[in-house]
Amino acid sequence: MTTKKNEIIGNYEISEGKLTTRREVLMMGALAAGTLVGAAANAASDPAKPTTISGATVEIKERDFSALISKKMEGLSSNQIEQHLKLYKGYVAKTKEIDALLNAPDVITQAPAANATYAPLRELLMEQSFALNGVVYHELYFGNLGGTGGDPTGDLKSAIEARWGSSAKFMDYLKASGKCMRGWVIIGWNTRDGALHAYGLDMHNMWSPAAIVPIVVLDVYEHAYMIDYGINRAAYLDAFVKNIDWDVCNKRFAAARKHPVGADVTL
Ligand SMILES: [Fe+2]
Repeated sequence: MTTKKNEIIGNYEISEGKLTTRREVLMMGALAAGTLVGAAANAASDPAKPTTISGATVEIKERDFSALISKKMEGLSSNQIEQHLKLYKGYVAKTKEIDALLNAPDVITQAPAANATYAPLRELLMEQSFALNGVVYHELYFGNLGGTGGDPTGDLKSAIEARWGSSAKFMDYLKASGKCMRGWVIIGWNTRDGALHAYGLDMHNMWSPAAIVPIVVLDVYEHAYMIDYGINRAAYLDAFVKNIDWDVCNKRFAAARKHPVGADVTL
C-alpha cells in the first residue's frame, strides 16, 4: 500500500512511514486541519478494490441483505432488520479501516514497541478479530434468516436428531443456549470429531471456536431484538426459529461435510 505523508486512519496517523496515535499527534501539536485523508475512506469509495488482512489479499465487501427488510418476516420487523443491517455495515467499514492500518509501513516496529500490555499492533490485531468476526457472523446470521422455520430438513435434520435426539430437543437446546450467551450461538460442524455441536460466544471474538464450520448462526446481542421485544429475549428466540432458512443451513452442512475429519487434518 502506498501511504501519503500525514495520512490519518481512524485514531492513527501515518507520517513518513511511522504510525502514531492521534492522541500522540495532538499532544505534539502536529495535527493540522485538512489532513483527514484516510486509506479507509479511500477503500470505502472504491468498493471494487480488494483490501488486505495481515498481508493476505481478501475482499471485504458489504453483502446485500435488503430483501430481508421487505420480506416481512413473522416476528422480526422491517425496522429491526434495517437497524441491524446498519450495524453490520459499520463492521464492514471498520474491518477495512483496520486492514489498512495493519498494512501500513512499520506498523510492527513503531513505539511503543511490540508489547502484550499495549502496542498499536496489539490493539489492531485484537480489534481485527472483533470487526472481521462481526462481519462474518452477521453475514451467516442474515444468510440463515428469511426461511419458513419449523423443524430442520434434509441431511441436517438427521445429523441434528443423531446429536440431540429429536428436532424438538434441538430447538429447546438452541433456545436455552441463546438465553445463556451474550453474543452468539453457533451450531457448528466440528471437523475434528465430525459432529455437530453448539458453541457460545459472548462477543464476536470471545471464545470463537477453532476448526468448526458454522451451520446455524444465532445473534443474541440485545441489538438483534430490542426494537421488537425490549428485553424479552425468549420471544425473540421464538421468532428466530420461525424464520430459519433450513435450505441455506443444509447447503452449509453439505459443504462442511466435504472437509476432512480428524485431529490430524490440520497438519
Ligand atoms: Fe448483531
